[in-house]
Order: sequence, then structure tokens, then C-alpha cells
Amino acid sequence: MSKKPVVKIGLIGFGVVGEGVWKHIQQNRSALERRLGARLQLVKVAVQDMKKKRKVQIPPDQLTTDPMSIANNPDIDIVCELMGGTTLAKKITLAALHNGKIVVTANKALICKHGAQLFKTARAGGGHYFYEASVAGGIPIIKVVREGLVANRFNLIYGILNGTCNYILTRMERENLTFDKTLIAARELGYVEADESLDLDGWDTAHKAVILSYLAHGKWVSIKDVPVEGIVNITLEDIQWANKLGFKIKLLGIISQNNEGKSIFVRVHPTLIRKDKIMANVDGVYNAVSVNGDIVGSGIHIGRGAGQDATASAVIGDVADAVNILLRTPQPMGLEDTNELYTPVGSNIELSSLEDVSSQYYLRLSVTDKPGVLAEISTVMANHDVSIASMIQPEESSNQKTTLILTTHQSNEKRIQDTVRDLEELKNVHQKPFLLRIVNFD
Ligand SMILES: NC(=O)c1ccc[n+]([C@@H]2O[C@H](COP(=O)([O-])OP(=O)(O)OC[C@H]3O[C@@H](n4cnc5c(N)ncnc54)[C@H](OP(=O)(O)O)[C@@H]3O)[C@@H](O)[C@H]2O)c1
Repeated sequence: MSKKPVVKIGLIGFGVVGEGVWKHIQQNRSALERRLGARLQLVKVAVQDMKKKRKVQIPPDQLTTDPMSIANNPDIDIVCELMGGTTLAKKITLAALHNGKIVVTANKALICKHGAQLFKTARAGGGHYFYEASVAGGIPIIKVVREGLVANRFNLIYGILNGTCNYILTRMERENLTFDKTLIAARELGYVEADESLDLDGWDTAHKAVILSYLAHGKWVSIKDVPVEGIVNITLEDIQWANKLGFKIKLLGIISQNNEGKSIFVRVHPTLIRKDKIMANVDGVYNAVSVNGDIVGSGIHIGRGAGQDATASAVIGDVADAVNILLRTPQPMGLEDTNELYTPVGSNIELSSLEDVSSQYYLRLSVTDKPGVLAEISTVMANHDVSIASMIQPEESSNQKTTLILTTHQSNEKRIQDTVRDLEELKNVHQKPFLLRIVNFD
């Protein structure tokens, strides 16, 4: 019997994800090695604090506080960057890729910010850069888009990409809890990132949407060009009104093609989705990504979007692809050039303008409770060619103020944003109108 070749792996970071990768490679080693036809040797692990107590034990001589020594170690074939951040992680990744190594990452913020440079370096150095764990954790969505659906052009990709926001919205809806109370529970369970804005203001979703848009269209969209709204302004009242109107509210990252495929738009915002849609019923910490390909039609991929095990599963999946490359066994499609695979579709693609992006809208207004106010509001909306589809006015009012919930017929972002700006100017409208999008995707 021939001896299996040995593939050497270095981990940079031994936190939630790094410990998971180590633990699961150890636990499933024999099955994994049989499937891959190689032995996996975890050579070195970089951490910040050597003295930290860790749930997963590791021989002290395998630890280092010098992550660059892993990137530059000629014995190491695969570097897993699992430390996070965009400064040191970038330097280390560039060094490893310069050295021709295969780098596996879960670092969505880094790819979103420096993806173009990192993939270019991977090509130039003869290395590869894999990032399955950076989007939707345990759902192998990168592989689905890159390989399984390679025959398609993608007119629409959208999804619930942040489990923390989905958990908060689900509990608010199911238990009639306020945003603040639910956030406290999410913090206690360790679901919220140390920098809470990443989750709650939509930036984490935006990082993932940017990566998906690159993958689908070969275009790096700057995060500055992505309108990003999180969930912090959603009230229990909005969730209840949405429910009465037949919708649930989900935070979505949306990558849509417009102008017959000549332009794309990437956006992140809380969205009203009809209750009978599959996406509306993906609850709790689960993620879901709907991919609409011109040949295959639409399909929804659902799974655990983060956490130690789901993310480790994705990292180890990439390690397996890396082993395939190193052993020169038949390669999964597209791995020879992870950067350029989709550029024929996207090389000339533009960013869409606000006029190109349409939907129905939900508006919550706080208005003076007196005759004539509704006429003022209707006039402003008509001036911008936005027509009202439905209106709800609760019976109770306080201090002569009342809430007005309006939904509109199909309009576009430019018209609705102009409408909101003019409504805010009205004397009888008491705060900035709160706007949500209503989508009717398949
Ligand atoms: N957690 C998730 O569910 C999840 C899901 C998807 C993607 N990700 C991404 O995965 C990456 C890692 O996340 P995580 O949750 O595992 O983070 P984490 O628990 O904070 O772990 C970070 C690890 O990096 C090490 N580290 C930090 N700075 C270092 C330095 N200068 N030198 C050497 N080691 C250093 C830390 O060392 P010490 O242990 O000594 O402090 C720690 O082991 C991030 O990019 C994150 O966005 C995470």
C-alpha cells in the first residue's frame, strides 16, 4: 500500500473559528484523510496570548505569537487566516500568497476591503485564496455559485446573511419584545460581535454582499457605493404592522442586475417579505441565500450562518480543495483561477443608478392628528409619482399626534427618497419618515 502524502497546515488565530478547525480536523481525521488521500499535519498555530486558557488543548511547542513566521515557513503548504482584522491580516495574507501558498480565510471584512489586491497577488505568486467561510458560514454558497451554477448568469442574489440580526428580528416578532430587550438577550448569548455596529448597522451583511457580487459578476463594488441600513430603527410596532399587512421583516443583502445585465446594484436594508415566502420563514440564527440563475431558475440555500462548527466546516471544505490542488488530483471547476472565472460577464458592468432599483415601500409617519394632513401627504407623494397602495391609521392618538402606516405601489429609490425628504419638511410630519422596502422576489 502506498504511503499517503503529507500536507502541512498552519493556523493563524485560535479563537472561535481556529479552535473549531483544529478540533474537527482531529475528530474526523481518519475519514477526512481517507477522502482526500493525504495526511493532514497541523504544524503551527499563531495566537496573541500564549498564556490564555483554551477550551481546545494544543501542545505548547506548536504555538507561536509570530503569525508572519507561519506565512514565511517554507514547510507549510496551507495557511488558514482565522485571526480577523484588516491590517495585520492583510500583511500576513499577502506574504503567504507571495510565497505561493494556499490561503484559506473566514475574514469577510478583509476580502471586502482588499479583495482585488489579494486575488491579484494570489495569481501572481501561483497561490490560491479560498474564502468559503466568509459568506453564510456553513452554507457552501461560494462553491454553489462558482462551481455548481457556473453555467448561469445571476440576475438576482439576495439573502439573510447575518444570523444575529435575524435572531433579533425573529424574537421581536415571536415574543412581542422590543429591539432593546432582544439585543440584551442576544448579547448574553454571545451572538453580537464586539463591534456591534458590524452586525446591527448592516456592515457585516454588506461585506458578504460585496463578496457575492464579486463572485457572481466579477466586479468589486466599493462598500462606499452600497446603501447600507441596519435594524436598529425597527420598532416592535413596525413588526406588528408588517404582520397585519401580511409580511415579515428581514435584513437582506441584495445584488440585482439591471438594464438587461449592463449594471448591478448592491444594497443592504431591512425588507418586508410576504409571509408565505420561504425566505420570510428562515428564522433565528439561520442564514439563507437565494440565487437566481438565468438557466437554473431560483433556489434557496439555508443553513447555519456562523458559529464555531458551521464556520469550521466551511474552512475545512476549503482546506480539502487546497489539498486537491496540492496533490494535483482533478480540480474542482474554477479553482485554477479563482479571480477571473466570472469576469467575462462582469468586466464592463456598471453600477446601477437609484432610478434603476424599484420596489414597493412601507412608510411609518408620525403626523398631527387633524383633518387635511392626509391630503398634504398624498400631494407630496403624487408630486413624485409615488402612489399609495394601502393606509392604516391606528385609532389611538396622543398629544394630537398619530401614526400613519402607508404602503406604496411599485416605485423607485430616487422617487421614494425624494418623497421622504419632502415629507420630512412638512410641519405636520413630526420626525423623519421611517422607510422599509417591500420585495416580491420569487
Ligand atoms: N466566529 C464566527 O462565527 C465567525 C463566522 C464567520 C467568519 N468569522 C471570521 O473568522 C475570523 C476569526 O473570528 P473568530 O470569531 O474566531 O475570532 P476570535 O475568537 O476573536 O479569535 C481570533 C484569534 O486570533 C488571534 N490573534 C489576534 N490577533 C493576533 C495577533 N496579532 N497575532 C497572533 N494571533 C492573533 C487571537 O489570539 P488569542 O486567542 O491569543 O487572543 C485569537 O486566537 C474573523 O475574520 C471573523 O470575521 C467568524
